[in-house]
Amino acid sequence: MNQVISSENSEQLAADTALVREYLDRAVRPAVLDAQTQESYKRKITQLMRQKKARLVAHYYTDSVLQDLAEETGGFVGDSLEMARFGRDCDAEILIVAGVKFMGESAKILSPEKTVIMPTLEATCSLDIACPIDKFSAFCDQHPDRTVVVYANTSAAVKARADWVVTSSIALDVVEHLMEQGKKVLWAPDKHLGSYIQKTTGADMLLWDAACIVHEEFKARGLADMRKLYPDAAILAHPESPSAVLEVADVIGSTTQIINAAKQSTKKEIIVATDQGIFHKLQQMAPGKKFIIAPTAGNDATCRSCANCPWMGMNSLESLYSSLQDNSNRVEVDSQLAAAAMIPLQRMLDFAANNQLKVRGKA
Ligand code: 13P
Ligand code: SF4
Repeated sequence: MNQVISSENSEQLAADTALVREYLDRAVRPAVLDAQTQESYKRKITQLMRQKKARLVAHYYTDSVLQDLAEETGGFVGDSLEMARFGRDCDAEILIVAGVKFMGESAKILSPEKTVIMPTLEATCSLDIACPIDKFSAFCDQHPDRTVVVYANTSAAVKARADWVVTSSIALDVVEHLMEQGKKVLWAPDKHLGSYIQKTTGADMLLWDAACIVHEEFKARGLADMRKLYPDAAILAHPESPSAVLEVADVIGSTTQIINAAKQSTKKEIIVATDQGIFHKLQQMAPGKKFIIAPTAGNDATCRSCANCPWMGMNSLESLYSSLQDNSNRVEVDSQLAAAAMIPLQRMLDFAANNQLKVRGKA
């Protein structure tokens, strides 16, 4: 069974789309800084971080300058599962999360004693927007026989309603584990990831209807044309991509799993279906290889994001410096909600600690 529950009706879907558009219109791209100004910000930020015992945790989709700064200052760059783990385990008093809102919230839930700040609190995610707690909770109430598994790209309130939280690196393994226990799953919010897991595991899953606006734009037909140009290339895809794209991918995995696959691949040319921010780390980890972004527009299509998450792009050196100066843009999560959300988050971290995660495909 793989039933997709739309956000109830087309009117609701249109409202969700309008809401995403409204957020997109607000997502202002930071100004491009010249090298000298960048260096000056980096120096000032590094000094402040030392004084305040702060650490920077950045996602691969953020600006390469922020990724480098995180690593140069003893922080971390990674996928969303690794970011959560690093944030929890590091000894910082202030944790700066360069990413999107759900990453900041997960960090705060896992480390309530730390001050968690973000360069911007405006950076959200289309999956989070399209899964409001009131509707999601009603949906769960209608299906009390199902184990509720939610993607990390959700609000703290949605996590608090779930039995499990998963990220893209662990989702498949967790659902497989639940299926072995004879459990039926209610999955939210990413329908492409949900459908991929359902097809791969054969689990009985009911899917919420939402998508990542970045990955949804990858086009299978354009990819087929591209493959003719690069017949020997490997295709690596993030599981938030549409099923027609995943069907032709050699490896499907989280951002870190994509980077590892690129490193290990014997192929010299690699087509990548995920946000272009990842190219910075890909080029560092596999310098001899040519990376090509998967097409986001077919013949008649237009692309809104062109493989760049508008919200990840809102994180900048300037906004980081400004929030670190006065510890503004603090992430706060209601303590009762945080305690409830901690249970499924912790379940995921325990599962990750006790299981060797599988990556599908071989490039
Ligand atoms: P990862 O967990 O693979 O880094 O994915 C996070 C995300 O938001 C992808 O769009
Ligand atoms: Fe959300 Fe997609 Fe951006 Fe990831 S890339 S944060 S899933 S909108």
